Amino acid sequence: MSMRTPQVEPDPTLPPEITIYEVGARDGLQNEKAVVPAAVKAEFIRRLAAAGLATVETTSFVNPQWVPQLADASEVLELLGDEGLGPRRPVLVPNERGLDRALEAGVGAVAIFGSATESFARKNLNRSVDESIAMFAPVVERAQGAGLWVRAYVSMCFGDPWEGPVPVDQVVSVAERLMDLGCDQLSLGDTIGVATSGHVARLLDALHDRGIGVDRIGVHFHDTYGQALSNTLVALRRGVTVVDSSAGGLGGCPYAESATGNLATEDLVWAMAGAGVRTGVDLEALLGTSAWMAQHLGRPSPSAVVRALTPAPA
Ligand code: HMG
Ligand code: MG
Repeated sequence: MSMRTPQVEPDPTLPPEITIYEVGARDGLQNEKAVVPAAVKAEFIRRLAAAGLATVETTSFVNPQWVPQLADASEVLELLGDEGLGPRRPVLVPNERGLDRALEAGVGAVAIFGSATESFARKNLNRSVDESIAMFAPVVERAQGAGLWVRAYVSMCFGDPWEGPVPVDQVVSVAERLMDLGCDQLSLGDTIGVATSGHVARLLDALHDRGIGVDRIGVHFHDTYGQALSNTLVALRRGVTVVDSSAGGLGGCPYAESATGNLATEDLVWAMAGAGVRTGVDLEALLGTSAWMAQHLGRPSPSAVVRALTPAPA
């Protein structure tokens, strides 16, 4: 016999309810080698929303030469119509060119994405940290002027593959500069999945001390080292209620060392269901969606919960 739902034992140390910020269609698919047709992406987003994921990041308006996987951003949103728009359907936007494209598509929310380290700012944005913040400033100003909700990611919060350890003060300083642009929410990115529990607590405390409270923070853990869920629990116990995750743990490549996806939404939903924390997500519908997507990608989900609950193909 396999259990398809956990036994519920409420955990009073966790918030009664969390918001899952689903990134599978963006963070997940941006790394896939296989070309996923726009129609499949649109259907994926529709199915995620139907499974109860109220916030779904849909795509990125970045330079299509840099991320060809998401070059079809406008087409995906066109296929989705109203379902792909509104304040709970954010898109990534690095610069004014990206914002122009996003506004043309009619989006209601955007996310800029800064880096705590110089190395990753260069690799990901072709800019220094200072230059990238200067690039974001008019994006945030214009987005807010147009009434959009704006999120700021900060990557490499807990370690950087080129620089190694990243001082907490350095992360806080970049986070402050991004939030000072006027962003509504800060998402703390553990891009390479190296964070551990004490580090998460220390960064949240340091941000709190500088006036960036948990009510404005989301956590974004990649699961490379298997720490994403335990780190999430630390953040929830500190009062964070927005958690980024990707359906099926999408992202990364099984053939590339140390490149794995985000915290799997199924792993998060299972943990929350057992602890009596409301997510609004229907786990069976989500599992069906991840199984369907895995077929399109031609490889199984790395999520432990998906593997436990999905029968092996005959
Ligand atoms: P650049 O090459 O320095 O850009 O890239 P540029 O400003 O010099 O422009 C060069 C050409 O690209 C121009 O065309 C622009 O118009 C065009 P030309 O005039 O020569 O014909 N261009 C664009 N076209 C369409 N849309 C645009 C756009 N921008 C420029 N938005 C840039 C700078 C920032 C654009 C580039 O580095 C880029 O696109 N980077 C994005 C990389 C990316 O998407 N990374 C993944 C997302 S971040 C992430 O995954 C981390 C996160 O999950 C959190 C975590 O885990 O830590 C969020
Ligand atoms: Mg990410």
